[in-house]
Amino acid sequence: MSTADVSGKPLTELVSLRGRRAVVTGGARGLGKAIAARLAEAGADLLIGDLDEEQATAAAKELAERHGVRAIGAAMDVTDAAAVAAAADRAVAELGGLEIWVNNAGIFPAVPLLEMTEETWDQVFAVNARGVFIGAREAARRMSATGPGNDSDGGRGGVIVNIVSTAGFRGSAPGLAAYVGSKHAARGLTRELALELAPLGIRVLGVAPSFVPTEGNLAMAAAAGVNLDEIPPTALMLNSPIGRVGTPDDIARVALFCASDLSAFMTGSTLLADGGDTA
Ligand SMILES: NC(=O)c1ccc[n+]([C@@H]2O[C@H](COP(=O)([O-])OP(=O)(O)OC[C@H]3O[C@@H](n4cnc5c(N)ncnc54)[C@H](O)[C@@H]3O)[C@@H](O)[C@H]2O)c1
Repeated sequence: MSTADVSGKPLTELVSLRGRRAVVTGGARGLGKAIAARLAEAGADLLIGDLDEEQATAAAKELAERHGVRAIGAAMDVTDAAAVAAAADRAVAELGGLEIWVNNAGIFPAVPLLEMTEETWDQVFAVNARGVFIGAREAARRMSATGPGNDSDGGRGGVIVNIVSTAGFRGSAPGLAAYVGSKHAARGLTRELALELAPLGIRVLGVAPSFVPTEGNLAMAAAAGVNLDEIPPTALMLNSPIGRVGTPDDIARVALFCASDLSAFMTGSTLLADGGDTA
């Protein structure tokens, strides 16, 4: 069980994910791909689910070759419960079980409140909040001893890692009302699901990054007419006392800590991975 006392284990064993099976949503690029890479390096077999099946498959192939793990790329829309359940079933069937689920898929359109439509609001919540609920439910059903589709030893418990944001702790830039609301929801879900799933041997943790340049937010900035290359790095660091902009791997290493037995005594927390931005 993932909540057992592991105090006597050596460090190499605590960080190892060998023999564990993980799903990373939105793992075709950006933070999700970096997280999938560290999980694979630690030995986990993977299913990378993404709207972009081609890019998810390419990422899975790359990680399988680099780390000698089994990796599958699959089409998955986290707002579609049937698609999430199908991908989870595929992970169980083809990888042999499920112990780690990373709810990473997220969207962050910037629309000033006075212009924001209900459709935009609903879509952001559908991906960033409802998607976390659906992913957690489908994961827990398969990780728990009583759920359908668990592995032959009757489910061994597991870990659900939600990629939140510093926007789950405070307001962000103008135009991000739906995003900030949805990330507060994801952080709240992390706390509540930790309580509800602990008896099933399932831990739930959140990771809250500050701004990290990725394909997604560079495209979002470009769509808003902002060229991030023209913004001084000092502005992008926001209030980071660490004095540099974060990288996807800065976030992935925290996600690995959450997914591994290093964090066996933790559940319900959302860890700020923000260079001290919110300190
Ligand atoms: N990059 C940052 O600065 C930052 C900061 C804080 C939090 N985050 C969070 O990290 C997560 C990843 O962000 P990123 O910057 O890597 O974004 P990204 O846009 O670069 O990558 C997101 C991936 O998710 C996929 N995706 C989008 N909607 C999906 C859906 N409905 N179903 C399945 N897949 C879907 C996309 O196809 C893409 O591959 C998001 O939850 C985001 O809110 C990012």
